[in-house]
Amino acid sequence: MAASRLALLLLVLAVAAARHALPAAGSDAHPGYDGAEDTCGVPAAAAAAAGRMEEYGGGRILNITHAYRADLPAYAPGAVTGPVVRLRDSMANGTLYNLSELKMECHMGTQVDAPGHMNQSHYAAGLDVDKLDLDLLNGPTLLVDTPRNTNITAKAMESLNIPKGVRRVLFRTLNTDRKLMWKKGGDLSYVGFTEDGAQWLVDNTDIKLVGIDYLSVAAYDHLITAHVVFFKIPNIILVEGLKLDDVKAGIYMLHCLPLRLVGSEGSPIRCILIK
Ligand SMILES: *[C@@H]1O[C@H](CO)[C@@H](O)[C@H](O)[C@H]1NC(C)=O
Ligand SMILES: *[C@@H]1O[C@H](CO)[C@@H](O)[C@H](O)[C@H]1NC(C)=O
Ligand SMILES: *[C@@H]1O[C@H](CO)[C@@H](O)[C@H](O)[C@H]1NC(C)=O
Ligand SMILES: *[C@@H]1O[C@H](CO)[C@@H](O)[C@H](O)[C@H]1NC(C)=O
Ligand SMILES: *[C@@H]1O[C@H](CO)[C@@H](O)[C@H](O)[C@H]1NC(C)=O
Repeated sequence: MAASRLALLLLVLAVAAARHALPAAGSDAHPGYDGAEDTCGVPAAAAAAAGRMEEYGGGRILNITHAYRADLPAYAPGAVTGPVVRLRDSMANGTLYNLSELKMECHMGTQVDAPGHMNQSHYAAGLDVDKLDLDLLNGPTLLVDTPRNTNITAKAMESLNIPKGVRRVLFRTLNTDRKLMWKKGGDLSYVGFTEDGAQWLVDNTDIKLVGIDYLSVAAYDHLITAHVVFFKIPNIILVEGLKLDDVKAGIYMLHCLPLRLVGSEGSPIRCILIK
C-alpha cells in the first residue's frame, strides 16, 4: 500500500516535473455515486455510467460541481455531509404532493466563500454571498495542475508561471489524484494554500477567483491564516470543493452561480466549464 502510494507519487512527480499541465491521474472512474459505500469498491460499470453524466452538449459543457450525495465528505476527519434534502410531506403518506426541505451548512460540497467568512469588518460591511461579483464568477478561466509533492506555497505558486492578467484560476492538486472528494469521510491531509502561497498570489498575480479541488482553499495547517490573507482583498472569490476529475488543463469559460443567501458568508455554488 505504502509502496504503491510512493510509486504513484514518484510517477506523478516525474510527470509534473516534465510538464505542469498534468491531466488528473486515473481513469474516468467516479467512485462515490449512489450505492458506492467506499472509495475503493465501486463497480466499473457504475463508475463509467456516472462518468458519462458529467458532460453535456456533446462534451462542450463540463459539470465541475459535486452532487450533494449523502456520503460527500464534510470538513472534519471522517465526517460526511449526510442527507441535505428531506421529504417534509410525502404522497406515500397521503398528501397530494411531495415537498422536500433543504437543510445544510453553507460551506458544504462545492461552495463559495464571501469575504465575511473570516474577516469581521467585511461581514459587518455586509459583504455576503449575494454581493459576490457575477462578472468575476463568469468568464475565461485557466485550469492548472499544481506540483504534486507540495502544498500551494509561494514556491509552488511561482513555479506555475501564471501570466499577469489572468483573473480566474482553478487549481487542480493532489486532492484530485487522491479522489478525496469521492472518499467517504473528510480527510484533513488535503493540499491547499499555505499562508505564504496565498500572499504570493495576492502580491504577484491578478488572480481574483481562486478555485480548488477540496473543501478549503487553505491547507489545514494554514486554515485561518491563508484565508485571512486572501480576505484582506474584499473582491477576491474563493470557490471550494470543485470536481476537476478528467478535465484537461487549459482555458475554459467558467460559469458559477451562488445562491442569493442574504447575510450568508457562504453558499453552495453550481459551476460548469464550457469548452
Ligand atoms: C452533473 O450535472 C447533471 C445535470 O444537472 C446532474 O444530473 C449530475 O448529478 C451532476 N453531477 C455532479 C457530480 O454534480
Ligand atoms: C410518513 O409516515 C411515516 C409513518 O407515520 C413516518 O414515519 C414518516 O416520517 C412520514 N414521512 C413523511 C415524509 O411525512
Ligand atoms: C413522493 O415520495 C414518495 C416517497 O415518500 C415516493 O414513493 C413517490 O414516488 C414520490 N412521488 C412523486 C410523484 O415524486
Ligand atoms: C499539505 O499540508 C497538510 C497540512 O496542512 C499536510 O497534511 C499534507 O501532507 C501536505 N501535503 C503535501 C503534499 O505536502
Ligand atoms: C479585513 O479586511 C480589511 C480590508 O481589506 C483589512 O484591512 C483587514 O486587515 C482585514 N482584517 C483581518 C483580521 O485580516
